[in-house]
Amino acid sequence: RAVRAQIQGSAASSPRSAGGPEDAATPRVGVVLGSGLGAWGDTLEGLIKVPYENIPNMPRPAVLGHAGNLCFGRVDGVPVACLQGRVHLYEGHATDKAVFGVRLLAKLGCRAVLLTNAAGGINAAFSPGDLMLITDHLNLMGVNPLVGPNDPALGTRFPDMTYAHDPRLLELARAASAEAQVALQQGVYAALLGPTYETPAEIRMLRVLGADAVGMSTVPEIIALRHMGVPAAAISCVTNLAAGLTPAELNHAEVEETARQSRARFVKLLSTWVRQVGAASMDW
Ligand code: 6GU
Repeated sequence: RAVRAQIQGSAASSPRSAGGPEDAATPRVGVVLGSGLGAWGDTLEGLIKVPYENIPNMPRPAVLGHAGNLCFGRVDGVPVACLQGRVHLYEGHATDKAVFGVRLLAKLGCRAVLLTNAAGGINAAFSPGDLMLITDHLNLMGVNPLVGPNDPALGTRFPDMTYAHDPRLLELARAASAEAQVALQQGVYAALLGPTYETPAEIRMLRVLGADAVGMSTVPEIIALRHMGVPAAAISCVTNLAAGLTPAELNHAEVEETARQSRARFVKLLSTWVRQVGAASMDW
C-alpha cells in the first residue's frame, strides 16, 4: 500500500501535470540506461527531463557516470520514458527503493520496459565490447525486491519467472540486431550484490552454474516488472572479461571506457529495438 501510494504520488509529478505535452506523459516503451549509456536519454525527440530530486520518493544514484533524470520523448515517433541512471542495491538502498523507478515507468503506462547494463563476460566466446541479450538470469543477490507484505494491486504473491525475460521482446531484440546490423550475443546473466567484483573462484563457480555474464543490477527490476505483468527484457554490454579469465585486474574506469567505446553500436541497437517494440506493443 505504502509503495503504491508513493508511486502514485510520483506519477502525479509527470510532465503532463507539470504542463508538458499530453503525449509525452503517456509513454509506450520504458527504457533503463546503464553504465555509459546515459547519453541516449538526451537524444530523445522533444526531450523533457525531470531530475530525480523533483520526483517524490525517487531514490538517487550515487555512482559516478549515472545521471539521475526521468526523460520523456520519442524515438522515431514512439513515446518513451527513460530512466537516466539507476540505483544499485550495493549503495545500501532498501530493495523496494531500487525498483521504484521501474514501477514508476509501469505506472506511467509503459507497455514494455527495456533495460541495459554493463557486465563482465564469463562465456569464453565473449570479447569486451560485445552486446549480450539476457535470455534468463540467476538471482544470486541474496535479496528479492518483493520481500515483505505483498500489494495485490501490484501483482501476485508468488510471481512466475518462466518468462521473466519476455519472449516477444527477446525475438524483437534479435530482429533489431538483424535490422541494425549490430551483432548480439545471448546468454544467462548472474546478478550479484557487489560492490566488489568477483574472485576468480567465484567466476569459475558462476560458469558451472550456467552464467555467461555477471553484474550487479537489472534482476531486481526484471522481477518487479514481472510482478506487475509488464513485459521486460535486457541487453548487457560486456565491458570486460570477468576475474581470472585474464591476468588483468578489474576497475570501474575500464568498464566505463569500454561502455563508451561500444556506445554507438549499443545506441543503434537500442533505438531500433525501441521502435520495433513500440510498433509491436500496439497489439498487446
Ligand atoms: Cl566482472 N562483475 C560484476 N559483478 N559486475 C560487472 C563486471 C564484473 N564487469 C562489469 N560489471
